[in-house]
Amino acid sequence: AAAEKGGFASFMEKEINDQPEAVAQTLLGRAGLDGKLELDELRIDPSLLKAVDKIIVLACGTSAYAGQVAKYAIEHWCRIPVEVELSHEFRYRDPIVDANTLIVAISQSGETMDTLMAVRYAQEQGAKVLAICNTNGSTIPREADAVLYTHAGPEIAVASTKAFLAQITAAYLLGLYLAQLRGNLFSGQIRDILADLGKVPAKIQAILDDADRIKKLARSMSDARSVLFLGRHVGFPVAMEGALKLKELAYIHAEGFAAGELKHGPIALIEEGQPVFVIVPSPRGRNSLHAKVVSNIQEIRARGAKTVVIAEEGDTAVQAYAEHVFYIPETPVLLAPLLATVPLQIFACELATAKGYDVDQPRNLAKSVTVE
Ligand code: G6P
Repeated sequence: AAAEKGGFASFMEKEINDQPEAVAQTLLGRAGLDGKLELDELRIDPSLLKAVDKIIVLACGTSAYAGQVAKYAIEHWCRIPVEVELSHEFRYRDPIVDANTLIVAISQSGETMDTLMAVRYAQEQGAKVLAICNTNGSTIPREADAVLYTHAGPEIAVASTKAFLAQITAAYLLGLYLAQLRGNLFSGQIRDILADLGKVPAKIQAILDDADRIKKLARSMSDARSVLFLGRHVGFPVAMEGALKLKELAYIHAEGFAAGELKHGPIALIEEGQPVFVIVPSPRGRNSLHAKVVSNIQEIRARGAKTVVIAEEGDTAVQAYAEHVFYIPETPVLLAPLLATVPLQIFACELATAKGYDVDQPRNLAKSVTVE
């Protein structure tokens, strides 16, 4: 078993460390060095994809957060409205679905019953289904009209890590493919984004190589009763995923909030010593939300919060307001979730390990939920 874990203490730790490879493998053979995107494997009539006027992402758990991240990129690149819905909510609300709706079903296992039932329902309504899946030949990709596999390799730990980054990567490839097909982006733009994606694995590796400080912080916080996570734009689903990892692995109450929503409610939760992780967007770029999120940090800090900040390398402005700052390498805004998630996974895994919990098999959870 020790060999299977690649020398790591748990599958979870191994899988967190597999992430550079998971992203690289998912890009391999698709993002050509010439900057062209090759997704002929989809074997779906391009005219069908051109006619799509709405995308609905269906998924559960961590896979649904990957969908929420992808929504920002696909809408930005393709100008197609994207809804993201939990599979089990979707089919019981009389959703508006027709032949021009593309369903993107995201599932690591391909066996999640809630997602499978939602897929079948959507197909009955005439929609086409494209599955993003990590398990070859599993039920959801078999029933789908098209499939884009994530090549993260087998994920053994119950809570998802490397599949999440691979799902975001695959969904981004799909978004770029649609943009290429529909002429929303110039080939040079697609080439640049693919080149930036190609640099992500090495940047994840840099975060993994520099994990000692966040692990130390995790061990020091093992008696935390509640941890909040704030993020904005693509950082919002990252915040929710960070909170989910902490619930799943360390059984600590945790919630992710949209930073802009703070003043509409969650700020009431802030009291002396409350730990809050804040995912800060890059200060670069015209529409940067950096200043807004930094002012959120000031607001919670003034009320006693203990702030742990994830920021982009070189962002010295956050230092004055943070108890702890963890830097991630520079990357375009839309790609930042592929980096910002990693310290949150390491934090949850280390904290749960410090509490003596089995991070591979958390209580009450199953890797794949095959009942409704
Ligand atoms: C279970 C797992 C989660 C996973 C979710 C969706 O709840 O414990 O880690 O995110 O199912 O699974 P799927 O295989 O459909 O991605």
